Amino acid sequence: MINIGSRLLKIARMLGKCSKPADIGTDHAYIPIYLIQSGMCSSVVATDNRKGPLMKAERNIEKHRLSDRIELRLGDGLKPIQEDECDAFIIAGMGGVVIAEILEASVEKAKKAEALVLQPAYYDEVLREFLLHNGFRIETESLVKDEGRIYTIIKARYDGVTRSEDILHLHIGRALFDNRDPLLNEFLERRIRIQTRIVEGMRKSVKRDEQVYAKEYNLLNKMKEAYDNLFTG
Ligand SMILES: C[S@@+](CC[C@H](N)C(=O)[O-])C[C@H]1O[C@@H](n2cnc3c(N)ncnc32)[C@H](O)[C@@H]1O
Repeated sequence: MINIGSRLLKIARMLGKCSKPADIGTDHAYIPIYLIQSGMCSSVVATDNRKGPLMKAERNIEKHRLSDRIELRLGDGLKPIQEDECDAFIIAGMGGVVIAEILEASVEKAKKAEALVLQPAYYDEVLREFLLHNGFRIETESLVKDEGRIYTIIKARYDGVTRSEDILHLHIGRALFDNRDPLLNEFLERRIRIQTRIVEGMRKSVKRDEQVYAKEYNLLNKMKEAYDNLFTG
């Protein structure tokens, strides 16, 4: 069985059993290989928009003798996937802006998926806002630590209900609080440190935009409040 590391393992487990998922931006194809070897899926489509990563994926798939179960395709986002071909999409390791753009460009395919498992590397607030404003329900979220970094994984599904969310929960998913994620405490500490640097940088800047500064300052206070509430509330 391939060893794929804690981040990819958690992504695969959050997907759960499904008949034919697609891993968009597969790079090394570790997730598709794991999904087949673990018996979670019978076939997987793996895509990437660059030839280099696809060649790497091909070598790994051949090494594990899974060329008959994992189909590789070159292309942008969900475009290489036919309508109704895949029941779930994994999009991991890209920025939240790119993931939102990929979903938006093929929103009808995304709407039909039984599960979207998304792991934004940064700007996850942009992705949450896109999902909630476009009728995708965030079913759950989870944090995972891998090589010292903490990553957020989001599972979503279209239900047609548009939602709004407050600034704190756009940045730190509400489900992480609801689930009392074991890494939330440490994650909040890290995010507060980063947000403090952002606010301090703005405070010292002569070209400060007061509106933007007030927004970032407010977010920092909300994060601190949420952190305190972990211990008191
Ligand atoms: C940092 S790697 C992440 C690989 C893997 N998904 C993971 O989480 O470890 C990002 C991959 O996404 C691919 N990629 C970026 N934008 C893409 C797009 N619009 N469509 C398909 N693949 C894309 C890149 O070529 C790269 O191989």
